Amino acid sequence: MSLPASHPAVHDHKGKTCPVTGETHGFCPPQEGDSRSVCPALNVMANHGYISRDGKNLSAGDITRGLKECYGLSSPLAYFLAYVGFMIIRKFARRVSLFEIGKHNAVEHDASLVHHDTPQGSKYAPIEIDQKLVDDLIDDVRPTHKDFADAAEPGERFLLNFEDVARARVRREAECRPIDSVHAEIARGEMAIILGVWDVKGKQKSGIPVDYFRRWISEERMPDGWKPDHVQSLRDVVARSKQIRTHVAFLRGDGGKQAPPAPAPAAAIEATSSPISEKV
Ligand code: HEM
Repeated sequence: MSLPASHPAVHDHKGKTCPVTGETHGFCPPQEGDSRSVCPALNVMANHGYISRDGKNLSAGDITRGLKECYGLSSPLAYFLAYVGFMIIRKFARRVSLFEIGKHNAVEHDASLVHHDTPQGSKYAPIEIDQKLVDDLIDDVRPTHKDFADAAEPGERFLLNFEDVARARVRREAECRPIDSVHAEIARGEMAIILGVWDVKGKQKSGIPVDYFRRWISEERMPDGWKPDHVQSLRDVVARSKQIRTHVAFLRGDGGKQAPPAPAPAAAIEATSSPISEKV
């Protein structure tokens, strides 16, 4: 795994605190021999010491705790993702390296947003991020960055929402090998979680700040100083995933002649994702 030229010499990454920076949750990229996965969320947790920085010897419990602390997921959502994920890759009650989470066609699927399809005959998906696919993903945002910059009022943020994710899903599912309905649902769910974690309400649009998202998905790094400001519930993720699915159907014309779906009432989302208390 290559490191930026400016980075300190290669060092060991045992445990959650980086021996070079001395910080528990500061960013440090993977070092030689560290394990990383196809999942940006899990790699970010290792790069920031919410799970062991070497990405190895991880239990479902370690991942559950990391998801709650790093992203503010509710206990039911964190347990669901970690334990069901381990069950699907057939590692229940075992320890894994992050790379093993990318077992092809278990949780992992083709038509990823920023990764290439798994080569024929490979057991694990490639973990390399294609920066051209990152650009394509940001190009799916409407209004585009240019249109936004031309019209933005002072202080307004460039945001990505469920309609943009639907646009990206339709594009990738047309560009790549076909995926089944279960994996299409997983792919929508992955994005629904992060849409919930960072959702902000702008004047024209609600969504997540593109600068947060781009850094997260392409550098596998958290926004500086960000900490969870609400408990992200499973119920909210299900509602957001449904919004993406409905908009995918609309874009493909499966939604008949009806108008594009309106965003779910803010109150419905707020009721399931604010403020800090234990939520489903
Ligand atoms: C905060 C929680 C999580 C978020 C926000 C999240 C988000 C994402 C996103 C956005 C992707 C798509 C990357 C792409 O399309 O290129 C992804 C991929 C993936 N995630 Fe996660 N994830 C989370 C937790 C987990 C957990 C707990 C597991 C398993 C134990 C997991 C396993 C995977 C796998 C296997 C993929 C690859 C899917 C593919 O082939 O694109 N994720 N995740």
